[in-house]
Amino acid sequence: MSAVPRPRAAPVRIALLGTGTVGTAFRERLHAWRDEPRTPLALVAEANTRTCRVHGAATAARAPVAVGFAERAVHALGSGGTRIVVDATASEALAECHAGWLERGLHVVTASKLGQGGPWSRWEAIVSARTRAGTRYGDSATVGAGLPLLRSLRDLRAAGERIHAIAGVLSGSLAWLLARHDGSRPFADWVGEAHARGYTEPDPGQDLSGEDVRRKLLILARAAGHALACDIVQVEPLLPAAMAARLEEARIAGGRLAYVARLQCDGDRLLARAGLECLAPGDPLAHGGETDNRVAIWCDRYRERPLLIQGPGAGAGVTAAALLDDVLAIARGAALTS
Ligand SMILES: NC(=O)c1ccc[n+]([C@@H]2O[C@H](COP(=O)([O-])OP(=O)(O)OC[C@H]3O[C@@H](n4cnc5c(N)ncnc54)[C@H](OP(=O)(O)O)[C@@H]3O)[C@@H](O)[C@H]2O)c1
Repeated sequence: MSAVPRPRAAPVRIALLGTGTVGTAFRERLHAWRDEPRTPLALVAEANTRTCRVHGAATAARAPVAVGFAERAVHALGSGGTRIVVDATASEALAECHAGWLERGLHVVTASKLGQGGPWSRWEAIVSARTRAGTRYGDSATVGAGLPLLRSLRDLRAAGERIHAIAGVLSGSLAWLLARHDGSRPFADWVGEAHARGYTEPDPGQDLSGEDVRRKLLILARAAGHALACDIVQVEPLLPAAMAARLEEARIAGGRLAYVARLQCDGDRLLARAGLECLAPGDPLAHGGETDNRVAIWCDRYRERPLLIQGPGAGAGVTAAALLDDVLAIARGAALTS
């Protein structure tokens, strides 16, 4: 007897905001995704600062004329069913919308650190909106470009662990720059190459100022259960003019220069900082290459020797893969409950 074919599930509808380095890689990955009958995905609309393209639906035409291209793409998701907004921009204005979208029943998957790594009030608004509305916020791409950092912290906390300290090389772009800069070319040339390779922020000044790492440390600290305000993190900017001398100092000392973020929790006292450090060869953070992120986590069970997580932490490919992971997790969760 032949099996009765199961009815094909309604597709999960996706609006993609941002069609730059990460957004384009995400779109390609989505198209390459072999459409599983159980989790079909449909890219309904995509927007950048210049236009909004709607695929095979006329809903965007009914969007209020005054809204921007991003909101038109979100409007094209329509109502009902599983709908996901993928934010692949570095827009403050869109990060400010995350909580509102969650509240409206839309899931949000983001590469932008400006939602959870921005002001504390925005982080709180996101958490309470998704709790109230029962929607999900996929943030795997924000720190470590999909490495299991946030997931591990949350799993440890869910198991009752207290996080005592976190230390990490959190910027793949700065790790790449420090590994490559050998004095043969001006530092600015290396920054240009890192940007062209898709390793830096849209504005590489955000990497060099340390702001990008500040946001990542805020996201990790908040996931670890610490209510950290932005200005608590002391951040040292990376000054291109001083780089040759700093690298030479580290070489003479037999160490490795790295841009390191640290969070230390002493009772109620939180210390958070990010800056250049000369790491001894035996330091757990001193290994890895190219764009690798390396993070050490100390908690109740890993008091003496930390849990170490390492791997590529920048680039369009790994970031887009992390976005798709989060989209699939939401789609599969919805399929299980429907
Ligand atoms: N590159 C990485 O390795 C990496 C890793 C992890 C996370 N991220 C994050 O991924 C995000 C995107 O980075 P990227 O390198 O792809 O940047 P990008 O190449 O500069 O692309 C940004 C895109 O966002 C669009 N955009 C900006 N503001 C918008 C708005 N208000 N409405 C609609 N679209 C808007 C831009 O539109 P136009 O095309 O019209 O300018 C552009 O298409 C950033 O938040 C970054 O921090 C990147």
